[in-house]
Amino acid sequence: MMDDRQGRVLVSRALPGDSVMSLRDAGYQVEVGGASLWPRDELLRRVVGVDALLCQLSEQIDEALLDAAGPQLRIVSNYAVGTNNIDVAACTTRRIWVGHTPDVLTEATADVAWALILAVARRIGEAERLVRSGAPWQWSPSLLLGRELSGATLAIIGPGRIGTAVAQRSQGWRMRLLYVGHRRAQPLESLGAERASLRDALQQADVVSLHVPLTEQTRGMIDAEALRLMKSTAVLINTARGAVIDEMALAAALQQGQLAGAGLDVHAEEPRVCPALLDAPGVVLLPHIGSATRRAREAMATIAVANISQVLGGSPPVRAVNDLR
Ligand code: GLV
Ligand code: GLV
Repeated sequence: MMDDRQGRVLVSRALPGDSVMSLRDAGYQVEVGGASLWPRDELLRRVVGVDALLCQLSEQIDEALLDAAGPQLRIVSNYAVGTNNIDVAACTTRRIWVGHTPDVLTEATADVAWALILAVARRIGEAERLVRSGAPWQWSPSLLLGRELSGATLAIIGPGRIGTAVAQRSQGWRMRLLYVGHRRAQPLESLGAERASLRDALQQADVVSLHVPLTEQTRGMIDAEALRLMKSTAVLINTARGAVIDEMALAAALQQGQLAGAGLDVHAEEPRVCPALLDAPGVVLLPHIGSATRRAREAMATIAVANISQVLGGSPPVRAVNDLR
């Protein structure tokens, strides 16, 4: 045991699996949070003097936190693929690596996107609530009619790993595929997807699925004007970040029948869910469970920890969003 190894690590919350143990075994001084989040002031207190921080997407890593941590901080390792909770530019200026956990959650998240597509198209949430309500029901030619997906058009907004995995799953439904992205995406084109402008994709799609990171360019990208372009029979799926959608505009568009439904795993102000969406028709709501499989979450912990051991050992992280080399 090398208990004199240089390096203090703060893991803000307990993680599945035993990869955090490996940091202790390697001789680092590791403090691990509990099952729930620390309040902000406690995080600011505990981060003082650490060399590495393993944090959650619900924690804001901004200038104030970096100041509180101190100049010895070398890596912020996010337990997520999205890093919109982190001021990456500020980290880069201070020569702090920003690690994240791509790939291992792609399939799990694509599954949840499809769970939402099917749930919205076939009104699964509503149907389940009816059965549980105890209200009388009977097979009927017109009970809970939904829409069929076979042959429909699916638009992937944001043609990265998750968008591609969602498109791949659509092949069983022989869907027409469109994608929206800044550049051509070969993996999507090899699935037969055509590149389209956002306007064309919104106008033509029966299912619009969002897979963009949250940035200043994508915040509020699906606003009242974008929603007006959608077909009145179309559905909108979001497994990316809530703030990509103007939630009030979405609730109003659903109330007015501008689109038929929405499946939302993510919300602009988590854990708050926009109250107007709770009352809107055709909505299926989930509590941000895209990557919530044991396999994905343990693999995310492994990468987040590996990012830290690499940096504390003097190498670049395994997966980073900035480059300090
Ligand atoms: C989850 O939303 C993630 O970014 O990993
Ligand atoms: C994130 O993993 C993405 O590229 O969609």
